[in-house]
Amino acid sequence: MNERREAADTMGDIHQPVMVSQVVGLFSRQIAEAHAPVLVDGTLGLGGHSEALLQAIPRLTIVGIDRDESALVIARRRLAPFSGRVRFVHGNYRDFAEHLHTLNIGSVEGVLLDLGLSSLQIDRPERGFSFRASGPLDMRMDQSAGESAADLVNNVSEGELEQIISRYGEERFARRVARAIVAARTTSPVSTTDELAKIVYDAIPRRFHPNRIHPATRTFQALRIAVNEELDNLEGGLDAGFSVLAADGIMAVISFHSLEDRMVKGFFRHKALACTCPPDLPTCMCDKKVEAEILTKRAIFPTEEETEANPRARSSRLRAAKKLEPQE
Ligand SMILES: C[S@@+](CC[C@H](N)C(=O)[O-])C[C@H]1O[C@@H](n2cnc3c(N)ncnc32)[C@H](O)[C@@H]1O
Repeated sequence: MNERREAADTMGDIHQPVMVSQVVGLFSRQIAEAHAPVLVDGTLGLGGHSEALLQAIPRLTIVGIDRDESALVIARRRLAPFSGRVRFVHGNYRDFAEHLHTLNIGSVEGVLLDLGLSSLQIDRPERGFSFRASGPLDMRMDQSAGESAADLVNNVSEGELEQIISRYGEERFARRVARAIVAARTTSPVSTTDELAKIVYDAIPRRFHPNRIHPATRTFQALRIAVNEELDNLEGGLDAGFSVLAADGIMAVISFHSLEDRMVKGFFRHKALACTCPPDLPTCMCDKKVEAEILTKRAIFPTEEETEANPRARSSRLRAAKKLEPQE
């Protein structure tokens, strides 16, 4: 059995990368002509996007970063046929510049971020991301560091819990959910995913249970975002990623919920603005330069066929921008 096949078999069909042809099309059009293009895949995951890009762009080299060491193990195996064209980094994408510096790379032609979780994380109960199966309440993408969801749920104040669930989960019953968690933990610590799912289920009045999703979905999303500091990382990562791009380089981001997408859209818009002065100021005082051209005036969504075949793609959207030559 060749290595590619073997890697795919160990993964089963667990992670279907989202909008692969759109991502490949975007980078192929924009950077394939470069002499020796380098792309940083800041969320390498199981290497699905990177594999497709390496196949489509023959001279491309990829730096693949992930916080999750078990994802890197699979990606290494999957991308073994491209050895020499891929460098693997265990780390946070918000440290793009440091990782590239360590590899002696100054700037790159492409940056890709495919946010959120891989199926490897969602589908393994022992990782604690899903309420669909019982597992320890972990939720850390990087299991070598940081506090787990159980640490958070059992230690922060009721007010902080409410804020997390409301802000990152956009859960209208955040106060009730936080109160119920705190009440439950006075008896014994909340330590498993199904315990937490039941607490949330019972805390939200039945008539307000959403039709299409489990009532605990928003709370789980909120805790996962908090545990992994996902929005802080995205904020830092967008800046860091843009700063390592060469002129004419492309940054593409796939996001999975509105909190992420708003940040990406706002970031690209800001980079594309010529001026940030208040509109009533008679002359420009801000010295802002246009730094980017937005390549996706509207976000790109997966096709219906894709969402039918891969329900995880349903909430995804892709935005991209090109870095421009610095203006005088
Ligand atoms: C949706 S998956 C990526 C899947 C990948 N594109 C593929 O085709 O297999 C997102 C990955 O990003 C990783 N990740 C999320 N936030 C990260 C961060 N701040 N730094 C590095 N990796 C991160 C997760 O561990 C996960 O493996």
